[in-house]
Amino acid sequence: MSTGSKIQPVRGTKDLLFKEAALFDYIISKANELFELYGYQPIYLPIFEFTDVFKRSLGDFSDVVSKEMYNLEDRGGESLTLRPEFTASIMRAMISNSLQHSLPLRLYTSGPLFRYERPQKGRQRQFHQINVECLGVSSPKIDAEMISMGFELIKKFGIDNQVVLNINSLGCKESRKRYVTALEEYFVKYENDLSEDSKIRLRKNPLRILDSKDENDKKISSSAPLISASYTKESADFFNEVLSTLDLMQIKYQINTNLVRGLDYYNHTTFEFITNSLGAQGTVLGGGRYNGLSSLMGGDDIPAIGFAAGVERLILLLTDHLNLEKRPNIIVPMGGEAEQNRAIILATKLRENNIMVIDEFDLNHSKKMKKVNKINAKYAIFIGENELKNENYTLKCLDSGIQEQLNLEQLIINLRK
Ligand code: HAM
Repeated sequence: MSTGSKIQPVRGTKDLLFKEAALFDYIISKANELFELYGYQPIYLPIFEFTDVFKRSLGDFSDVVSKEMYNLEDRGGESLTLRPEFTASIMRAMISNSLQHSLPLRLYTSGPLFRYERPQKGRQRQFHQINVECLGVSSPKIDAEMISMGFELIKKFGIDNQVVLNINSLGCKESRKRYVTALEEYFVKYENDLSEDSKIRLRKNPLRILDSKDENDKKISSSAPLISASYTKESADFFNEVLSTLDLMQIKYQINTNLVRGLDYYNHTTFEFITNSLGAQGTVLGGGRYNGLSSLMGGDDIPAIGFAAGVERLILLLTDHLNLEKRPNIIVPMGGEAEQNRAIILATKLRENNIMVIDEFDLNHSKKMKKVNKINAKYAIFIGENELKNENYTLKCLDSGIQEQLNLEQLIINLRK
């Protein structure tokens, strides 16, 4: 715990308050609406899994497994890990529940994930993703549809002018093997000039050197062999069909031959939607194909593809141009118990009619009127002696100051406008 005077959240975690919390809910619900349009259904999984679920699938030498996992041993001596991503958990669930008999499966989920990374803008230790996976479809057309679903999501949030789609193909197992050999042969000549991290990558997974942020590594990588030279004919055809389907859908993309992604399970298509507006953490949405992950985890060999988008990064992009503020109405009973009781009954009726209303029970009449400004209320509904006698209400529009006497029916019509 922090030694400061005020109790603080854990480094890399964030409380989402007010506008950010509203944006969070908005993003999840809009995304779910969109995924349903494509025939995806919800799936919710445990927040922790056996450590092996992630170790086996993401790659022992990926940054996530080697440096970032939150591992814990429970009281029964089991080695558990707070999930750093969804894909491996979804694969585990497919195998545990024998869902390979129900393929194809289109699944969406969202929730918190945990990675021990250095916190910065757009990068946290507890963060959230919206995530989709399509299991059991091998056609390259689903790769294009998956990317177009990502693009529709970005469009739905009105940020399509801030992001660029980067795409690459890592090819099939054979293409990847050939490419790894070509890269080893190339990078070994520069071994002494590579960063310490990339020296290790050279031995473990030279593909990841292409992903390095080190300036000197980048310079060396710029003349490295291109992956396209290592594709088998099938892999080249597969990628061409993904691209031609994207053309058909009029989705613009940039081929980025260095886009290898940070997790080991990818093959064929990889893609990211990247923005310049978030500094170093520019990838808003990333994904790709991961045929073979299922068999690696002990299941059947099934084709699969998916993506995830970071909710916190979306919040940062949306915060300046989306106003989700909801203006409540406030009830102001002005006398004693009779007025207050009438207010309680009215509040129930209004909410039954989907009208948002607040009664600040702890505040007296004048404090309540001060509160009206603070919460940016739209209407105040006064209930005093006269209103009780006449069985009506005084409705005051707080923007115009105009007041009118209305019966219940008229009040509901006015408040619904
Ligand atoms: P990823 O690229 O590791 O992919 O993460 C996807 C997205 O999650 C990133 O583009 C970013 O928006 C967000 N993200 C990742 N780490 C953080 C962090 N520390 N703080 C804030 N946001 C973060 C995956 O997780 C794959 N499972 C995606 C996938 C699904 N591939 C196939 N299916």
